[in-house]
Amino acid sequence: MTSVALLGAGLLGNAIARRFLDQGLSVRVWNRNPDRLAPLLEQGAAPITELEGAARDCDAVVTVLRDGPVTSKIVSSLGDLNNTTVIPMGTMGVSESRELAEQVLHQNGRYLEAPVLGSRPQALNGTLLVMAGGDVTEFEQQRGNLRHLCENPILVGPVGSGAATKIALNQLIASLTHSFSLSLRLIQQAGVPVETFMEILRPSALYAPTFDKKLQRMLDGNYGDPNFSTALLRKDLNLFLQETVAAGLQDKGLQGLADLLTAAENTPLDQQDYCALHELTGSS
Ligand SMILES: NC(=O)c1ccc[n+]([C@@H]2O[C@H](COP(=O)([O-])OP(=O)(O)OC[C@H]3O[C@@H](n4cnc5c(N)ncnc54)[C@H](OP(=O)(O)O)[C@@H]3O)[C@@H](O)[C@H]2O)c1
Repeated sequence: MTSVALLGAGLLGNAIARRFLDQGLSVRVWNRNPDRLAPLLEQGAAPITELEGAARDCDAVVTVLRDGPVTSKIVSSLGDLNNTTVIPMGTMGVSESRELAEQVLHQNGRYLEAPVLGSRPQALNGTLLVMAGGDVTEFEQQRGNLRHLCENPILVGPVGSGAATKIALNQLIASLTHSFSLSLRLIQQAGVPVETFMEILRPSALYAPTFDKKLQRMLDGNYGDPNFSTALLRKDLNLFLQETVAAGLQDKGLQGLADLLTAAENTPLDQQDYCALHELTGSS
């Protein structure tokens, strides 16, 4: 039986671990706050009580931690990796992932970055989109594990290319949500019925399915029970902005959105669903 150690049982990590269990894998789990492990232990996962040595005797270590620095710190606590492959699935920067790959090599391990698009529902039913970065042999060896989460995992290129693809996609999440929110507010203020606006938008080339996915939540101001938080969207937008600087791209247009998202910091919006960004477009 394939055995996986999963580190980081937050919103996404919990769902990935559940999917692995549903698929019959042997799963050991660790989380900084152990209370979050309870549903997984009930489902048959085994707890990791000591990180040092936890990578031994498993086929892969999957991390679903907040960001690059946290992932680096927790992977470092594993000590010698005994040739096990570390698969970070959380979102991190391109250079962060490359540095982590070096670190893993020094810890006697192997590395395949595998960030994902999609959230808890997609993790639970195995329809995440996996964009891997690493070498072909490593990818082929881990394809079976990745296929529990995604029908067709894609190897984008070497380490860093999966991370770049992921933050490029999350820039779209932030920008699309922001532009939809602003347009929605303007038409409402002009007295245009929302459904009329949507009737015109839906068949047009401008439509993105995420608009309908978030529409009702925005109209109701209902941002509870998040799949992906505002705080993490801001983290990913800032990672994207760092890369635009490195790539010499013009980031002025996006900088304003990053500033807007900073207003959510230390407010309840931060832990709510990222479409709470709608609250920030309501006043100038
Ligand atoms: N949610 C999504 O839909 C989604 C989709 C794609 C990618 N991602 C990415 O996946 C990663 C996890 O996202 P999430 O939504 O699951 O976030 P989350 O619910 O906030 O979970 C974050 C995880 O990181 C851990 N963590 C945070 N700071 C830590 C520290 N200093 N030391 C040790 N552990 C720490 C948390 O532990 P505690 O529980 O102890 O706080 C938790 O396990 C992020 O990189 C996110 O961008 C998320």
